[in-house]
Amino acid sequence: MSTLKSVNLDGAIRRVTVPDIRARKRRNGGEPLVCLTAYTVITARLLDVHTDLLLVGDSLGMVLYGLDTTVGVTLDMMIAHGQAVMRGAKRSCVIVDMPFGSYQESPAVAFRNAARILKEVGCAGVKIEGGAEMAETVSFLTQRGIPVLGHVGLMPQSVNTAGGFKTRGRDAQDANRIVEDAKAVATAGAFGLVVEGVMEPVARRITDDVEIPTIGIGGSPACDGQILVTEDMAGLFTDFKPKFVKRYMDLGSGIAEAARQYAEDVKSGTFPGPDHCFGMPKEDDHGGE
Ligand code: KIV
Repeated sequence: MSTLKSVNLDGAIRRVTVPDIRARKRRNGGEPLVCLTAYTVITARLLDVHTDLLLVGDSLGMVLYGLDTTVGVTLDMMIAHGQAVMRGAKRSCVIVDMPFGSYQESPAVAFRNAARILKEVGCAGVKIEGGAEMAETVSFLTQRGIPVLGHVGLMPQSVNTAGGFKTRGRDAQDANRIVEDAKAVATAGAFGLVVEGVMEPVARRITDDVEIPTIGIGGSPACDGQILVTEDMAGLFTDFKPKFVKRYMDLGSGIAEAARQYAEDVKSGTFPGPDHCFGMPKEDDHGGE
């Protein structure tokens, strides 16, 4: 758990704030930021005591809805899942991804949609993908009370222009471009920066060059914190496994095995047993409830 005091003097749980996250630069003595994605109340409850930041990522389109990319995710989907996560997370700073098409058109459109997310979800801020081209929007939002988490490097919403989910920063030109993108978003007022799928030296340069914390996903330990998709790290989403994912358990196999045993019990008549029924006498009971 982080060094942040997680309980107030009156015993209430203290929620991690955007300024708390903003202050977690490791070179200034901050502990690495622990971040995960959450899409549902049940995962939010399970993760909340361990994380500083929970991201309601638009990766939910692929993980929960079986879409091929995140492009089809809508604002309504993000708001519904954001609300569920807020019901489960009492301590972590909750940030909601703005889906493709909800912020790229203009700063004013981005503000309208981000304000809707903040009002209807009650989260602390939004995440948007993009570099220098989004700096004006980041500045517009942050100056009007909407905290923004940036996202540079591999940007899944750009899958169609990039021609796939490709690691970034492999040549000097691309590396320099990503570093400049990161600086532009940081200068525009973002409180943190997700750095996804970049070569290690690029993540290191960005982390050295910006004053805000970097949160890596395939960004190396050089970053100020780490984030993974929960279903990836728990082994529940197994369609593919990016190199940067570490699987901490095989939850998918556990659920499949539970379903197999349940099916066996139902077919053999051993479930439901007396413990799971109302008013059914147990074998050693003599007529009691
Ligand atoms: O959508 C998402 O889950 C993300 C994380 C992978 C950073 O953007």
